[in-house]
Amino acid sequence: MFNEKVHVMDHPLVAHKLTIMRDKNTSVKDFRELVSEIGMLITYEATRDLPLTTKEIETPLCKAEMPTLAGKKFAVVPILRAGLGLVDGVLRMVPSARVGHIGMYRDEETLEPHVYFSKMPKDIAERDIIIVDPMLATGGSAVAAVTEMKNRGCKHIKLMVLVAAPEGVKAVQDEHPDVDIYCGAVDSHLNERGYIVPGLGDAGDRIFGTK
Ligand code: PRP
Ligand code: URA
Repeated sequence: MFNEKVHVMDHPLVAHKLTIMRDKNTSVKDFRELVSEIGMLITYEATRDLPLTTKEIETPLCKAEMPTLAGKKFAVVPILRAGLGLVDGVLRMVPSARVGHIGMYRDEETLEPHVYFSKMPKDIAERDIIIVDPMLATGGSAVAAVTEMKNRGCKHIKLMVLVAAPEGVKAVQDEHPDVDIYCGAVDSHLNERGYIVPGLGDAGDRIFGTK
């Protein structure tokens, strides 16, 4: 259904943790912890193509030439506010990554996204970017976030989400076919209010306990 730029996690731990998150009776504390844990697991997949070099070390037995990360510059960019919940999981895997922030809200009527805040590291154009947001629904927010990063000169951009709707995946692919999308799951469809079905509800409200 989707091309090779769409990577849907095929892992029992991700599936199991997502099911707990989807349950409406899951507490804010547990929900928040699960966002972070799944963020870590998806980061593992999204960093599979990081380049390696080698360096000489000395084990207790001998000298050896061993693999080490080539030191690619990296930035994680959460879409506010729900994307903030994923930052910690990414940073636990890639501690040296810088963090940029994009503030985005959707007009409740039109569902159109609006950028109200964008603060990036100075050298953002030289960095590989992972934009993070738990939900890819209509795709409006993700498309606008990728456009913002491209306007800032970024060339290597990935998108990481927990739950996607087919409509959102298609929107990103149509507008930004160069972007790899990593998702925990692709659900059935969007409802008339732009919510993913079955989904997990409003991710921001569930992470921050605002409802
Ligand atoms: C949610 C979600 C995405 C967006 C997805 O944010 O975190 O950013 O909706 O919808 P889309 O694909 O149709 O653009 P929301 O607007 O609810 O804001 P919040 O993060 O402050 O909760
Ligand atoms: N934003 C959310 O938080 N949840 C959805 O299902 C759709 C958009």
